[in-house]
Amino acid sequence: MIQDSAIWTSLPVPAFLIDENDRIADVNSAAEGFLNASRKSVLGYPIWDQLAIDAPIEQAFERARKQGTPLFVNDIDVGSGSRAPLQCGLQIAPVVGRPGTMLMLVSPRELAGRMTQSHSVKSAAQSAIGMAEMLAHEIKNPLAGITGAAQLLSMNLAAEDLELTDLIVEESRRIVKLLEQVEQFGNLSTPDFKPVNIHDVLDRARRSALLGFGAHMAIVEDYDPSLPLAYGDPDQLLQVILNLLKNASEAAPGGGTIRLRTYFEHSFRLRRSDGSGHSLPLQIEVVDDGPGLPDDIRSDIFDPFVSGRENGTGLGLALVSKIISDHDGWISVDSVPGRTVFRLSLQRVPKGRQEKENN
Ligand SMILES: Nc1ncnc2c1ncn2[C@@H]1O[C@H](COP(=O)(O)OP(=O)(O)O)[C@@H](O)[C@H]1O
Ligand SMILES: [Mg+2]
Repeated sequence: MIQDSAIWTSLPVPAFLIDENDRIADVNSAAEGFLNASRKSVLGYPIWDQLAIDAPIEQAFERARKQGTPLFVNDIDVGSGSRAPLQCGLQIAPVVGRPGTMLMLVSPRELAGRMTQSHSVKSAAQSAIGMAEMLAHEIKNPLAGITGAAQLLSMNLAAEDLELTDLIVEESRRIVKLLEQVEQFGNLSTPDFKPVNIHDVLDRARRSALLGFGAHMAIVEDYDPSLPLAYGDPDQLLQVILNLLKNASEAAPGGGTIRLRTYFEHSFRLRRSDGSGHSLPLQIEVVDDGPGLPDDIRSDIFDPFVSGRENGTGLGLALVSKIISDHDGWISVDSVPGRTVFRLSLQRVPKGRQEKENN
């Protein structure tokens, strides 16, 4: 029974006891944390006022109560008055010996509490990209025509008018570059999974950044030398790291420091919507000391065409997010001025594939 307060208090997930009138009869300390409210201040209040649930579960809840059966709800958004909704699973069961009283456990899917956002490519974003790919293809040919015509025109122009044709050619080039980035999505194949030494990938990215877009940055290594091999596509992972380094470099035009950190976190698991779970113990962080994410776009940075820079395309992080989700991995970001952390979590080589190491 619930009188066993030690168990109740120790339950590591938010737990609610709901009376026959749908009012809160008790909450444990994890639930106080989840609600960001004290037990005293919520006792007796209607549960559905305290928890905003983005699904019509009331009927199913009532049925579970009447029939005395448990109810499981996966992947719904659960918010409370003072905080943004989190994706959660709900486990609900009638309390034995207390007719009408229900126990509800809330398991947030948020994997690491200190990360403020996480993302997987949404289908709306994907169809926006599909549309853009078609357009990209259609625009490239006429654009080549326009550029060619401008170049022909420029042959007979006076010097002061050349500026105009140069402008046409230059701007067309910019559009072509954007279109090519859009087309990169279409060309992205499913990852060619193999054992990958993440430190090799980081080294390659670091060297190429220092020779080009990141020449004004210091890039320091903070590697866990005992990190096991990851399971992924080395070329695609290189693209991911390059994009993150590029963004960090562009955020700090006056220079700054980027830290590449790797470590092993045994307990990091991702739960899929079908309930199965898999382990993502390899952690890679790209940490910069720049200004941080712009406030107005911070919740959308992984969406395509969202950019905080004048000449940005907003495709870099959308590509990163697509690749990581194709890898069954996880990406999250935590950013305050002076410290921005992009964290990737990847799986290690499945047992039995170890011998084919080639990286
Ligand atoms: N390390 C970072 N520091 C500050 N802002 C960042 C960082 N990484 C990404 N951003 C912001 O996220 C936006 C989206 O990035 P991205 O998808 O790569 O598109 P783009 O670089 O073309 O703008 C950037 O324009 C920038 O405003
Ligand atoms: Mg970018």
